[in-house]
Amino acid sequence: MADEIVAKHGTITLEQLAEMQPGMARLMVEYSQRFWTMYYAAKASNWALAKYMHSEMMKLGRIVPVVRPKYAEGMEEFERDYMGPLLAAIDGKDWTAFEAAYRRAIEGSDHFHDKFAKPFIRFRLPPDPPPYLEFDPDARPPK
Ligand code: HEM
Repeated sequence: MADEIVAKHGTITLEQLAEMQPGMARLMVEYSQRFWTMYYAAKASNWALAKYMHSEMMKLGRIVPVVRPKYAEGMEEFERDYMGPLLAAIDGKDWTAFEAAYRRAIEGSDHFHDKFAKPFIRFRLPPDPPPYLEFDPDARPPK
């Protein structure tokens, strides 16, 4: 019998548990959302928020070799060539460098989607920041 674990609502097999882990498509939705947010955080000089989004993207990247090893090398390359310069710009609080690195990273995402036979996937920066987050680093709740 397959290894089973007892979960709150019944038993599940390790295979079922593995099957439920997010694949690339699900990881990419969160990756995009954080990438989108990172842009507007940097634009608002909310460098702490930009750095947080960057770090969460890197954490997502660490899941890739575990769940989808065939993309591991590509992800490593993307992180080296595009995420590295973004982090340097965030650490330097340098908007000009950040924006240039960000535009290059979008081109990088196109490149990797082409490389992995997904040329119909093209991330494009939304014209506005996500509406549910405060971007002003000094904001306080309205009285
Ligand atoms: C900032 C960089 C990136 C962004 C914003 C981005 C964005 C996206 C988006 C929006 C999707 C469609 C998700 C959906 O709705 O199903 C997607 C899918 C995908 N992305 Fe990315 N991506 C990036 C980098 C990469 C890199 C570096 C790789 C490869 C190493 C990659 C490989 C893929 C693959 C393979 C899919 C298709 C999912 C699947 O076949 O299961 N992406 N990406």
